[in-house]
Amino acid sequence: MADYSRIKAALGAREAGHSLPQSLYNDDEVFAFDQEAIFRRTWILIGFEIEFPATGSYQALHIGGAPIIVIRDRQGALRGFHNTCRHRGAELCAEGSGKATRLVCPYHQWTYDLAGKLIFAGRMGDGFSPESHGLRPIHVETLAGTVYVCLADSPPDFQPYRDAVGPMLEPHDFKNAKIAHEATLLERANWKLVMENARECYHCAGRHPELAVTFPIYAKGNFETVSEHEANFERRMVELGLPGLPAEENWWQAARFPLNEGAVSMTMDGKRAVAKLMCPIGDGDIGSLRWAIEPHSFCHSTGDFTFMFTCIPLNTRETLVLGKWLVHKDAVEGVDYDLANLVRLWDATNLEDRDLCELNQRGVNSPGYVPGPYSAVAESLVLRFVNYYVTQAKAFIAAAEAEAEPIHAIAAE
Ligand code: FES
Ligand SMILES: [Fe+2]
Repeated sequence: MADYSRIKAALGAREAGHSLPQSLYNDDEVFAFDQEAIFRRTWILIGFEIEFPATGSYQALHIGGAPIIVIRDRQGALRGFHNTCRHRGAELCAEGSGKATRLVCPYHQWTYDLAGKLIFAGRMGDGFSPESHGLRPIHVETLAGTVYVCLADSPPDFQPYRDAVGPMLEPHDFKNAKIAHEATLLERANWKLVMENARECYHCAGRHPELAVTFPIYAKGNFETVSEHEANFERRMVELGLPGLPAEENWWQAARFPLNEGAVSMTMDGKRAVAKLMCPIGDGDIGSLRWAIEPHSFCHSTGDFTFMFTCIPLNTRETLVLGKWLVHKDAVEGVDYDLANLVRLWDATNLEDRDLCELNQRGVNSPGYVPGPYSAVAESLVLRFVNYYVTQAKAFIAAAEAEAEPIHAIAAE
């Protein structure tokens, strides 16, 4: 068993309601642990079914540092595999997306069909069993056009998420969307600082003047209804038949909430950015559906478009933020929307957030850093994220220890 004693001590030293001990943000050992114990154990939102438009459409990417392939098989289902050849382990597909009729290893040309079955392996001699050398599968789930993968043998239960969030996502018609824009941003900060920042709007009044035009920056927790404006919104959504009451479990959260009065989209001026709507119900004046997956993402779906934010940890102090903007597939750029206008708000917000995460990291690097208290009022979702992290990390170590125990017992006898 790996030696988790230092990480265990740091988790144990964490003061409730406070930011994490320095080593949990800054140690390379913790970064490697996070990849294994967090990112390779839970459901990760990787994108949308429309990104796999045909049989053989695939994406090769990394989850928790592990190379994987997600591909559409001949029956139309999405399948996921570890991106490593069953011969001597070469990477099968270079990172990126494409379309293949079969997967051919570039090294010695072992060839797999779209279901991961080995269909060619030259000069392997008698007694070689192709059946036992298929690609190793990973779990894939789709929900209303969104796509998730999990590398764990036993993933967290997806069904409650499917039941609660599926009906909220359906009206946004992701199966008839297109990616209007994609952008990546390198942030020189630990992934947990990136996510802590993404889970609060305590900094919004001071640092996001553009976002504050449309986003209720003083909203509580999971957008619980407190004002008349919110109560009216909730009533109207019920009339429109749009589900959206807050729902959550430890690894996900979703709620439809009202934008500021007069705003119908999350844009610089609150006006819709796309004339052809993804969700035409209520003329697209339906607030925003925020759906978030721990440990790495959040999405906002207004009537006219969806913005997806995901964080991809690169190393201890560098994180890639991947953003995707979706619009209706029939929306024509230059006619139904101006791309610069569509992306301006989230581009500006992401750049502002990058600067905040980097300044947070620089300060956390200080020998004078000590964990500080989160605001129970304004940072409840940060606390939720950090609690999720600590709980998952402790559970992972406890499971590893339990598995290792018999060996210790025998050794001690
Ligand atoms: S490693 Fe793939 S065919 Fe040899
Ligand atoms: Fe922010």
